[in-house]
Parts: sequence; structure tokens; C-alpha cells
Amino acid sequence: MEMPRVAAALALALSLIFVNMASQCSGQLQFGFYNGKCKDRNGFQRNVEDIVKQKVKARFSTDTTIVAALLRMQFHDCFVNGCDASILLDVPNGEKTAPPNLSVRGYDFIEEIKTEIENTCPGVVSCADIIVMATRDAVVESRTGWYPVQTGRRDGRVSSAQNVKLPSPSIPIPQAIAAFNSKRLSTIDMVYLLGGHSVGVAHCGLFQNRLYDFKNTGHPDPTMNTTLLKTLQTLCPQNSGSTNSANLDQDPLKSSSVDKSYYEQIRLGNGILEVDQQLALDSNTRFSVARIAESNDFSFQFGRAMIKLGAVDVKIGKDGEIRKRCAAVNSPNGNSGGNIFNIFG
Ligand SMILES: *[C@@H]1O[C@H](CO)[C@@H](O)[C@H](O)[C@H]1NC(C)=O
Ligand SMILES: *[C@@H]1O[C@H](CO)[C@@H](O)[C@H](O)[C@H]1NC(C)=O
Repeated sequence: MEMPRVAAALALALSLIFVNMASQCSGQLQFGFYNGKCKDRNGFQRNVEDIVKQKVKARFSTDTTIVAALLRMQFHDCFVNGCDASILLDVPNGEKTAPPNLSVRGYDFIEEIKTEIENTCPGVVSCADIIVMATRDAVVESRTGWYPVQTGRRDGRVSSAQNVKLPSPSIPIPQAIAAFNSKRLSTIDMVYLLGGHSVGVAHCGLFQNRLYDFKNTGHPDPTMNTTLLKTLQTLCPQNSGSTNSANLDQDPLKSSSVDKSYYEQIRLGNGILEVDQQLALDSNTRFSVARIAESNDFSFQFGRAMIKLGAVDVKIGKDGEIRKRCAAVNSPNGNSGGNIFNIFG
């Protein structure tokens, strides 16, 4: 007779706590949002962040370029329409189709993680959160320090190429600052986020303008290190339409780890994109670049900037939905499986 009463009291207490938590937390992201929310079919609690981490570890062991792919994906997703996985939707004229777009590889990988999570606890984890968790884990695999991620984002239902207004590789620093400020990201956030260019490559087309006839001068960009200039001119001959690519971080030992070597390289004139080189020269940013190159807190500060990027215009609470598949919105009539509060019932 005693047990059921205790159990009922406990259940009531728990549900009060959950209701309280749910109401307190709607409206903001949380660290560990999925703690205790993913129960597998045998009734065991599963750690969502662990599932993502294992997938990323396995992927990274065969493909280190996943780091740059995911960093770009999170950046593009968050900068366009907020971090709502709108980048993943396969719709006519969706964000995916707008240049500059991402490699197809990254999209498939997020879908693969999503499938594994749906097979474990369906309808709980958003694609928007998977992008952010997987990006963090890829950065960590590249040997940058771990940073925590906030979760609780919901997926958007709109994706349009027309919304894609990303800073171009040649954007002047003051305009880049304005673009970041419009997303409530500060100049220093921008300086750290560009540190994402310590991994990945750029194709000739993105910097060809600097190599032969920079701004109609008939000469190369004078800010480019002359050794680098020769290398890039060989890689990307004039009027060749070459699709070769160069490492964004020119330190050959560090071009696949997210670290401060990017800042050291741009101070040597070894920036590949115009925006990278200008970051080291513009009066708004050069002191920060010098400080980062000379100190040892890059990975902590990079993580802090990624958390801020991950909070840009997010959908939370009852906004958006939890997609069943990352490439498609849930059907309007079917059971969406998208109500996160179901799991408390
Ligand atoms: C990416 O953009 C290019 C150039 O506009 C386009 O040809 C290509 O189809 C796009 N890729 C995807 C996956 O939409
Ligand atoms: C050009 O880059 C090389 C390393 O790639 C560096 O040793 C040299 O100092 C750089 N030159 C200038 C002027 O910074």
C-alpha cells in the first residue's frame, strides 16, 4: 500500500519539476538540453551527445576534411535564417542550391547521424542541434580543446536560395564587421570565427582575382607574400579556369587542425582569401590578430565564439519542428513526432 503512494508522489514531484523546467527553459538554449530525454526502445537512457561523438570520431578517422565541411555548414546554416538546419532541406531553390554552396558529403553525414538517433529515440533531436554538436566534435577531433554546446534548437520549415547573403571572400573588413554585427556577433567574435579558416581549402576561383590583375592594377595583390604568390600562380595559371585548390592555412603541419596557426600565417602575408589577408592588416582587427597569434587561449575563445554563432536566430520552444529526416520538412498532416513535450507524458 505504501509503495504506490510513494511512487505517485514521486511521479507528481517529477512532473512538477519537468513542467517547471520546461516553462523556465522555453525561450533559450541550454547546455545538456537532451540529458535524460533520449530513451531507446528497451527503455534505457541514451546520451545523445555521445552518439554524435562516436559517429564523428569514426568519420574523422577516414576523412579529416569533415572538419572544414562541418564548420562551413554550421556557419552557413546559422548565418542564413538562423541555426535551424534550413541548409539541409532538399527543396527547389533551397539554400543548398545557392552559390557558394557546400559539398554534398557534409549533408549526407548529418543525415546519417540523424538516422542513427531516430533509430534510438525518434522525434526528439533536431537536425539543427546535430549540426552544432557534430561540428563541435569534428573540431575536437582536429585537436582543438573541447567546448560545450547549447542545444534545444528546433528545425525550420523554410529554405530559400534568395535568403543566402553570405560575406564574400573579398568583402572589405568594415563590411564583414557590419554583416557579423547584423547577427549580433561582435568584431572579436568575427576574428575568432574566421579562425575556422585554419582548416579547409579554397579553389582557385576564390582567389584568382589576387594573382594577376588585382583591382584592375595589372599587378598581383601587393599584400600577398611573394613566395606564396609564386606558388599560387603555378597552381592557378592565368585564364586557365583551374579548379585546383590551396590550403587556407599555409602552415603545412597544421592545415588540418583548428588552431591559431591561421593567425600566424596571415601575419606573414600568407592569407589565401582577400578577407583573410585583410583581417591581419585592417585597423579594426589587426591588433586582435596579433594578440591571438601570440597567446594561447585560441581554442577556448574559438569555442566561445562558436557558442555565440550557434545562438543566432534560433527557433525554440514551440517554434519550428523536430524533423524526421533532415532533408525534408515533416508533412503538415501526418503525425510529426515533433513535440518535444511528448516525452514527458
Ligand atoms: C552549387 O552551386 C553550383 C553553382 O551555382 C551549382 O551548379 C550546383 O548545382 C550547386 N550544388 C547543389 C548541391 O545545389
Ligand atoms: C613569407 O612566408 C614565409 C613562410 O611561408 C616566411 O618565412 C616569410 O617571412 C614571409 N615573408 C614576409 C615578408 O612576411
